[in-house]
Amino acid sequence: MSESLCMKRNSVRKFQRKEVSDTVVEKLLRSAMQAPSARNQQPWRFIVIKNREILTELGGISQGAWPLKEAPVAILTLIDVLEDGRKEMCPQDLSAATQNILLEAVHQGLGGVWIGVYPLEERMEKVENIVRPAEGTPFSLIALGHPEEKKDIVHRYDPAKVQVIE
Ligand SMILES: Cc1cc2nc3c(=O)[nH]c(=O)nc-3n(C[C@H](O)[C@H](O)[C@H](O)COP(=O)(O)O)c2cc1C
Repeated sequence: MSESLCMKRNSVRKFQRKEVSDTVVEKLLRSAMQAPSARNQQPWRFIVIKNREILTELGGISQGAWPLKEAPVAILTLIDVLEDGRKEMCPQDLSAATQNILLEAVHQGLGGVWIGVYPLEERMEKVENIVRPAEGTPFSLIALGHPEEKKDIVHRYDPAKVQVIE
């Protein structure tokens, strides 16, 4: 039985020195924009970063951001400025888009890791200073590339965390 994308996904932090084609990057973005969002507001923006210097700088925004230093490409997701200002569900919307990118990456034979940015002001400010986005609030960074490592699936299913109401 082949495992689903959800079961196969795990965080990949080491990458081969091999480019990710623009065609594949577009597929990742198509899946991101296919994510569910509250009121279908799609409050997202994406910046594709291939520039080595910028990736290296981003790799220093936090202790856990180092995978960006070696990744051939990263996607910065941003919360868009909404005209009616209803922002309450934006983090959930952006989380769904981020997860879709990670799952599509597995489907494309790539690996990736979510680098946490929002809601930590210090990290958000650092990302803004490095990337200088024209608009939007930095939400997550996803380091992506061809995996250098292959990990076995570690099953985490725990029935104790589930309650059924009949
Ligand atoms: C909101 C969020 C922020 C994360 N930030 C980082 C990070 O900064 N650096 C990192 O290496 N991994 C980061 N991760 C990945 C987690 O460490 C990883 O998902 C967790 O250890 C489970 O491992 P798995 O993804 O391989 O299943 C983040 C994950 C989430 C959901």
